[in-house]
Amino acid sequence: MTLNQRWLARSRAAVWHPCTQMKQHETLALVPIARGQGPWLYDFDGRRYLDAVSSWWVNLFGHAHPAIGTAIGSQLAELEHAMLAGFTHRPVIELSERLAALAPGKLGHCFYGSDGASAVEIALKMSVHYWRNRGLPGKNGFVSVENAYHGETLGALSVTDVALFRDAYAPLLRRNIVAPSPDARLAAPGTSARDHALAAASSLEAILAECHATTAALILEPLVQGAAGMAMHDPAYLARARELCTRHDVHLIADEIMTGFGRTGTMFACEQAGIAPDLLCLSKGITGGYLPLSVVLTTDEIYAAFYDDDVARAFLHSHSYTGNALACRAALAVLDLFRDQDVIAHNRDRAGRLTALAQPLAAHPKVRNFRQLGMIWAFDIDSGRTDFSRWCFAQALDRELLLRPIGKTVYWMPPYVLDDDEMALLAERTLEIVACA
Ligand SMILES: Cc1ncc(COP(=O)(O)O)c(C=O)c1O
Repeated sequence: MTLNQRWLARSRAAVWHPCTQMKQHETLALVPIARGQGPWLYDFDGRRYLDAVSSWWVNLFGHAHPAIGTAIGSQLAELEHAMLAGFTHRPVIELSERLAALAPGKLGHCFYGSDGASAVEIALKMSVHYWRNRGLPGKNGFVSVENAYHGETLGALSVTDVALFRDAYAPLLRRNIVAPSPDARLAAPGTSARDHALAAASSLEAILAECHATTAALILEPLVQGAAGMAMHDPAYLARARELCTRHDVHLIADEIMTGFGRTGTMFACEQAGIAPDLLCLSKGITGGYLPLSVVLTTDEIYAAFYDDDVARAFLHSHSYTGNALACRAALAVLDLFRDQDVIAHNRDRAGRLTALAQPLAAHPKVRNFRQLGMIWAFDIDSGRTDFSRWCFAQALDRELLLRPIGKTVYWMPPYVLDDDEMALLAERTLEIVACA
């Protein structure tokens, strides 16, 4: 038995893995990871895998990054955690100030959670409670977008439109209104991505005109719906959505859990439409993949509606690890890297080089809708394989790649540290897989 085999037998016996039909591991082995370095993960038998999906989109600067590790180490020597009710501390204060300065618009109040779904729960509850405090308790519904993904806790799942994730839990979920998708791939032949986005926005207009009195917020993933299969839309949709929300007194919740921190080519995707939401949800890349942390940023107006002598009008939500000092310090180290290494500008250059290397892939006859935005590349594959996603995952492992297609969409969302050789390897080996798909 190799070391890998020993660890995977123990993992299969004791660990229930996420988003996984465990029985499938009878035929496709788990990969026990021993260590990481830069964009590479290494198993116990010494094989390496290029982490082309940044470990579920969190690992912005590669594994074992010295600056983030050192920052966490120095924080560890001072304070690992203190409850955030009745207490505060330096990392959470500094992080809140810096996030507020970076975020679009005037989002000066930060409320912390531990993962993406908890940020979504916070934003949904905060919106509904705001309207209640304002004397409008009937504004408690949500509008979300077709094929949206906002997480898998019950509130977040209520605004998620992925049948596989919802069906078993449908009796637990609240019904919300689903607006048509602005996904550019759905544009009719001869219709531009922008016109398709504007048509979707017109449908949204009709929904909000009819339902605004019972709607607290519109929640959307700006520019890219990740779990829908890296579905990209024109920024015109966001600009219109912002206008409509303002006109109809409906909050706009921007879920930038996946798109935030430079992934779409700007620090936040909303910037590309020149808009600011009322509530901004961030997580994933915020700590560079080191520690779980999420945050919802909001406006003075929303904050003020909770500021009162009456405790029942306060925002009644808490998690034990809210504003954990180590996680906040990791996030500060990530923001330092963005500032000191001009990451957004360097990524423009990196993205150009990887897009050039991907041209044979984009031109391959089995590839449809090749698309790229910032540090996200995706294409749909014309393959008869019903098990394409699992097959591709296994083929990628054989070629030292970690790829995890969504249905028949293959995507790259690599850490921002790939060198030219790693980019060439990624492009060439993905092409090899496509050729035999
Ligand atoms: C846009 C978006 N929102 C929310 C979530 C949920 O985040 P988490 O998995 O950390 O709960 C995800 C996760 O992929 C996401 O992509």
